[in-house]
Amino acid sequence: MPTVNMSERDKTQEEAKVLPEHVGFIMDGNGRWAKRRGMPREYGHKFGAQTFEDVMDYCCHKGIRAMTFYVFSTENWKRPKKEVDAILHLLDSYLDTCRKRLAQNDVRFVFIGDRSVFSDKLRDKMDAIEAESAHKGYTVYLALNYGGRSEIVHAVNALLEQGRTHVTEEDINACVYTAGSPEPDLIVRTGGDLRISNFLLWQSAYAELYFTDVLWPDFKGKDVDAALDSFAQRKRRFGGV
Ligand code: IPE
Ligand code: IPE
Ligand code: MG
Repeated sequence: MPTVNMSERDKTQEEAKVLPEHVGFIMDGNGRWAKRRGMPREYGHKFGAQTFEDVMDYCCHKGIRAMTFYVFSTENWKRPKKEVDAILHLLDSYLDTCRKRLAQNDVRFVFIGDRSVFSDKLRDKMDAIEAESAHKGYTVYLALNYGGRSEIVHAVNALLEQGRTHVTEEDINACVYTAGSPEPDLIVRTGGDLRISNFLLWQSAYAELYFTDVLWPDFKGKDVDAALDSFAQRKRRFGGV
């Protein structure tokens, strides 16, 4: 009989099935994708929006219970007005589509970031989607006018308003926008840059990072699988041995 160590083999098979509970996506590369096609950057955002929907559906299908998609950062207002307007227009029409499709999926949508800057019309659409999807099983956070630093400042201010003079990590955990979901255990950035760009700074303390050169509009199910395979092979120590 070969000396197969069954428990070791079972362990390996078990590890191969390790799925992150929460994946964050830094959806980068839309502008370059469009430029390579001789098109304006806005064209890339349009295709990027379709990729977002496909990746969200695919992750749900894979059984990933929570996802955060970085849609628009607190720094992205520095872009030309034409591009910002095009992104806001895409967002507006996506919110309509999203609301119409709520019945077809099991996704709870939560809009994270400082939404006070958006028009009443956009905010009302976000509020309606959040309310109508509040009971669903999967959670999708859409980060809009979001910055990790701004989120931490927002959390601390919320605690100060409660009269607190001393705060703990648990207090801040309870006040970040993703409170109630596990911290992201995997953060995926497309587009080839090796940085976090102010995304989920507090929550990503022990996230595994995965970077790919694939530009966001080209990111497909097989690329999600590659990120998940990489995640399944990581040895997470959380400071231990
Ligand atoms: C990400 O793609 C989308 C947003 C930041 C809104 P980019 O627009 O940053 O695309 P690149 O990085 O310039 O190619
Ligand atoms: C990060 O991409 C923000 C989003 C994907 C929404 P950026 O393109 O804004 O990041 P930098 O400027 O290259 O760091
Ligand atoms: Mg970019």
